[in-house]
Amino acid sequence: MTTVLIFGGYGAVGREAAAALTGSPGTRVIVAGRDPARARPVAGATAIRVDAADSGEVARLLEGVTTVLMCAETGDAQVARACLERGIGYVDVSASHDLLAEIQALDDLALARGATAALSVGLVPGVTNLLARICAERSPAGELRIGVLLGSGERHGPAAIAWTLDGLGELGDSWTMGFPAPYGRRTVHRFPFSDQHTVPGTLGVPAARTGLCLDSRLMTGLLAAAGRPAVARLLRRRTVRGLLLAALEKIHLGSDGFAVTVSSATAGASFSGRLQSRATGRAAALLVRDLPALPPGVRHIEQLVDPVAFLTELAADEFELHLDDDHEQSARR
Ligand SMILES: NC(=O)c1ccc[n+]([C@@H]2O[C@H](COP(=O)([O-])OP(=O)(O)OC[C@H]3O[C@@H](n4cnc5c(N)ncnc54)[C@H](OP(=O)(O)O)[C@@H]3O)[C@@H](O)[C@H]2O)c1
Repeated sequence: MTTVLIFGGYGAVGREAAAALTGSPGTRVIVAGRDPARARPVAGATAIRVDAADSGEVARLLEGVTTVLMCAETGDAQVARACLERGIGYVDVSASHDLLAEIQALDDLALARGATAALSVGLVPGVTNLLARICAERSPAGELRIGVLLGSGERHGPAAIAWTLDGLGELGDSWTMGFPAPYGRRTVHRFPFSDQHTVPGTLGVPAARTGLCLDSRLMTGLLAAAGRPAVARLLRRRTVRGLLLAALEKIHLGSDGFAVTVSSATAGASFSGRLQSRATGRAAALLVRDLPALPPGVRHIEQLVDPVAFLTELAADEFELHLDDDHEQSARR
């Protein structure tokens, strides 16, 4: 019997992963968070109360666990360290480059204990890293451009909204990219997703940059305005941030679709569908399933799985994988 413990297992991403894993034979799924009594139950999973920041509580909970899936934004590598010290497999969906770098530094510990940690799991990072590998293998020279289009109509989890809001102060240059139908060419704004920092090291590409837009052009315009330094400073004020977070959890202008696209000088690949939280949770569940067969050490997803095979399985009959010519290539500025 395999036991999978999901921190944040009843959040937007975690509950999708839990739902996918409870269907696997011989797998027991525990969904953990600080207040499971307030959350909608996840069918087939056991709910447990735990604060990931409490190392004593975490240590007790890890007894008998095979794999931990981290779907809560904790801000440090404490849980990853506790897992690897005990030889427990670890999968993390975080999109924060600094945190991933902190976990990456535990590679020697993981190797010594024979444990595997998989980072950059989800849509972005995750699917984008795999698309980046496909493009890098087809045209190794030159910069990779990564485009992320999120539906402003989806009920994103509060942790994901807060993460996005915090990134607004770091919005950089903008460029246009072609996304699969029905979206077409869009302006994207550079955003601090971790994939652009990871893939130069893991894939040996000279540089990469990731840009974000929303499906609604109006909301993308507001996003760009919110990235201006004075507005970004205002958004960091506690009261303004709190009010905005509460409002954004309620406002759903646009669709629940998403698309991610990567292009190099001569290659392009995209992945699209509805509900990014579902795509992230399903990707995490596939990785959790594959983890026991993967070599020990701390690795990013693009170093661990065959990108086309993994994305084809993830797409199944719910999402779409587009390779090369069936989507518009990114415009080079
Ligand atoms: N890679 C990707 O493509 C991708 C995509 C989307 C999101 N994400 C990341 O996934 C994470 C979750 O996002 P989400 O949209 O699912 O957010 P969410 O709906 O807010 O879920 C977060 C969950 O974490 C739990 N949690 C928070 N702090 C905790 C703590 N200290 N100890 C235990 N549990 C804790 C919350 O429950 P309680 O508040 O009850 O504790 C909640 O269940 C975020 O880090 C986000 O950045 C990654």
